[in-house]
Amino acid sequence: MAKDVVFDLIKNEKKRQAEGLELIPSENYVSKDVLEAMGSVLTNKYSEGYPSFEGVGTWKEEQIADEILPNYRYYGGQDNIDRIERLAIDRACKLFHADHANVQPHSGANANEAVYFAWCEPGDKILAMNLGHGGHLTHGSPVTRSAKIYNFIAYGTDETGDIDYAELEKLALAEKPKIILIGYSAFMKIPDFKRVAKIAKEIPGCLLMADMAHVAGLIAGGVHPNPLDFGFNVMTTTTHKTLRGPRGGLILSNGNIASPLKKPEKTIENIPILIDRAVFPGTQGGPLEHIIAAKAVAFGEALKPEFKTYAKNIVKNAKALADGLMEEGFVLQGGGTENHLVLVNVEKSFGIDGKFFEKALDMVGLTLNANAVPGDKGGAFRPSGVRLGTPAITTRGMGVKEMKQIAAWMKRVLNICLGVGKEELLDNAKDELDQIRQEVKDLSLSFPV
Ligand SMILES: Cc1ncc(COP(=O)(O)O)c(C=O)c1O
Repeated sequence: MAKDVVFDLIKNEKKRQAEGLELIPSENYVSKDVLEAMGSVLTNKYSEGYPSFEGVGTWKEEQIADEILPNYRYYGGQDNIDRIERLAIDRACKLFHADHANVQPHSGANANEAVYFAWCEPGDKILAMNLGHGGHLTHGSPVTRSAKIYNFIAYGTDETGDIDYAELEKLALAEKPKIILIGYSAFMKIPDFKRVAKIAKEIPGCLLMADMAHVAGLIAGGVHPNPLDFGFNVMTTTTHKTLRGPRGGLILSNGNIASPLKKPEKTIENIPILIDRAVFPGTQGGPLEHIIAAKAVAFGEALKPEFKTYAKNIVKNAKALADGLMEEGFVLQGGGTENHLVLVNVEKSFGIDGKFFEKALDMVGLTLNANAVPGDKGGAFRPSGVRLGTPAITTRGMGVKEMKQIAAWMKRVLNICLGVGKEELLDNAKDELDQIRQEVKDLSLSFPV
């Protein structure tokens, strides 16, 4: 019998990933081991609940493999699952210096919602970064469920591209939010966690939350500060961006760890237990244990010394890419980057919008995304910028030389856009675009995935 057509499409996608360059800063290429764990028989198992938390952070891995402990599960047959989830929890705690880890969120969005649900009541205030200044949809965009439940207040960035800490402080002291959230998907500076922690101290009952979805791999690799080291109570992240694991979410927290079966008093010290209850049964059902196993594998990889080199190279490459683009005349938001992200204001640089440029770059095999810049008049569908980053191309082994080459290709594509004048007319420059596409393909194939 012929194999399902789905497998042909997967094959095509594999080819696309190999022959082009993924410059989307939230994407990466996982290892074979991570892929193997994801495609394993663990997908067959139901394991609502949690493994035992006894000895989290203090036990050796062999002990986790040997010990059989009572769990908090609603189904039988959990011997292997319990151990796998415990390994994921312990490795996550070690990686991010946390007392507790919930490895069950199906995604970054679910992780954030669970934290809001754990700590806030409907109508409570949450102070988070303005989406148009680099914040994320899940931090209060009106189209989300959480924005209908909680009252989000936005702080912004200043003209240097950094967080406007004076505004953040003023808003925090005036509004007394239940959560101050530092997190973003298009912000190129390193946040001053210490300063924010000091502000939060002035507000009784204010939970300090960081959404480090983008930079978690940089934190794990020791090239970016860890908010949990500065008094933050909770850190959420995705596991699939710079962290290079399977698609999914993770919540780290500091405080008391105990059975999630008994409702604890609602105090900041009890936040780990409140979060466990908010994930399951609060907002999710059965955990995806095949994904949790892949998270455990990815955390194990991130604990290795090679990951430190990887994280360092991501930032080195991002700086080289930013410099290369500025040398080609592109205007960058924030004037460069301190992490893995670069945000180009194409409108300000050359008078064309981000969507037009994204489409043209797609045609040559350079994949990135159009993105708003602060004060953007173009709206979500015609933003003025493009966002790119280096996690995936660094995984392929590329370095500074290749970053300069990418910047040069981007300028050539930009000139083609200016020449044709309109997105609909890009096909008129097919030969020139095909020539660049071939060059991109040649370089890509010399750095196999
Ligand atoms: C800062 C931040 N938080 C949360 C998310 C949501 O993650 P997911 O797409 O896994 O729901 C993202 C994803 O881009 C993000 O950048």
